[in-house]
Amino acid sequence: MTEQPKQVQHFIDGAFVDSLDGATFDSVSPIDNAVVAQVAEGSTADADRAVGAARRAFDEGPWPRMSPAQRRAIIHRAADVIESRRDELAAWETRDMGKPIAECLAKDVPRTAYNFRFFADYAEQAHTEAFPKPWDRVLTYTLRDPVGVSACISPWNFPMMLESWKVAPALAFGNTVVLKPAEQSPVTASLLAECFAEAGLPEGVLNVVQGFGPDAAGERLTTHPGVDLVTFTGESATGRIIMANAAKTLKRVSFELGGKSASIVMADADMDLAVKGTIDGIFRNQGEVCLAGSRLLVQRSVYDEFLARYVAAAEELVVGDPRDPSTQIGPLVSTEHLDKVMSYVEIGQREGGKLMTGGHRVTDGELAKGNYVAPTVFADVDNSWRIAQEEIFGPVQVVVPFDTVDEAIALANANRYGLAGMVWTTNLNTAHRVAQEVRTGTMWVNCFFVRDLRAPFGGMKDSGIGREGGAYSEEFFTESKAVVIQLPS
Ligand code: NAI
Ligand code: MG
Repeated sequence: MTEQPKQVQHFIDGAFVDSLDGATFDSVSPIDNAVVAQVAEGSTADADRAVGAARRAFDEGPWPRMSPAQRRAIIHRAADVIESRRDELAAWETRDMGKPIAECLAKDVPRTAYNFRFFADYAEQAHTEAFPKPWDRVLTYTLRDPVGVSACISPWNFPMMLESWKVAPALAFGNTVVLKPAEQSPVTASLLAECFAEAGLPEGVLNVVQGFGPDAAGERLTTHPGVDLVTFTGESATGRIIMANAAKTLKRVSFELGGKSASIVMADADMDLAVKGTIDGIFRNQGEVCLAGSRLLVQRSVYDEFLARYVAAAEELVVGDPRDPSTQIGPLVSTEHLDKVMSYVEIGQREGGKLMTGGHRVTDGELAKGNYVAPTVFADVDNSWRIAQEEIFGPVQVVVPFDTVDEAIALANANRYGLAGMVWTTNLNTAHRVAQEVRTGTMWVNCFFVRDLRAPFGGMKDSGIGREGGAYSEEFFTESKAVVIQLPS
């Protein structure tokens, strides 16, 4: 049975609208490469219209002038709607980008709702500083204002969840928003707009413009003089372009970019935990995770034993239709991305990597129509090779042996990225030392993907600029003002 493609429009100034020129593009499902949605394709003019609405809502509307408690109530209502529409949102995330349904139901949708609640609550509790100097009869204190119109440009790998990390703090701190979701996974951003409309968000406060980046809606958001800040998650190369474009109007920028994070297994690790955690660390979400532990460094004294267990565990993962609740690995987001991942498998073989398992597409029955790749493990990899240096963003693990903790730290740092990292050890000193010395935004000890929203999240080196989370998001989404009072003596 073929369903009619869903019609997806922009959401501008409180209304769902087509593109001004009527243009649309098809969103295909990686499950079978069939068209699942016909999506309004935003041009520069559509971006202008959305920025205009967000600008008016900021300059004249009620949102920035409300109390945080009033904003909190509306954002919580939107989170209620998101939760009440969980099954529908999860089904669309799965259909549009191939993420396993079990993951969407248990994590992506509830976390999206939670992210909105967290920042709404956080903003209500926010406080400012005072610097009293009674001996000089001077009182200085700070005020915080929202920054203005926020352009939120997001990728396809965790569509709704990554959108919420940007949109939630932007709204909670009183900004207005133009969200440009990724063209590969456009549907749930529009559903998110429906949830906010239903919750009673004032017009123009949240706008969603669909479409592409270069020479289109995305790029326009980064050059429009009416946009005050850009928060972007995606490729490092795109970050460079956006920063250059945003420089002309001196916009504030925050970037979450690529990664090639080292996952270090020490000989003293709890092996059951390490095997499970490092498998999850690369194969979760088909390896389409910026934080993935995509360089597995294993101490030589346990290398053979660990590798044997690792390969066996990779082979047990269930690759299949992501709509099946038992599926652990779904299809890759697009045929272009499938080609990119498969080209890295070839590169790895040319470079001399020992292919232990996988390295091929999965084409059994109906899966032949989709973009499925078997969990792939290359052993005996040299850290200087391309497969160990470049972000593959698929279910491909590279395993590099090492002898000492010093060597592991040096290898972890020998990469242009610095987004995350993991260390698997039962030695407290090793854990602290690795955490201290690896140049990276997050270091997990004996775990992966655990996130406290109060903590900083972001990358060093080519992995980004700025941090998200709690006070870090407050810093980015607000302007501080110093008020200096000379008191009478
Ligand atoms: P991308 O960086 O091209 O796209 C991300 C977003 O930026 C999309 O919404 C896109 O439309 C927009 N965009 C692209 N060019 C733009 C421009 N010039 N101005 C304004 N907006 C623009 O990433 P893409 O192509 O979706 O993914 C390719 C690679 O990026 C992946 O293979 C992976 O290596 C990396 N990636 C990293 C992610 C992370 O979370 N750090 C997430 C997704 C992708
Ligand atoms: Mg799609």
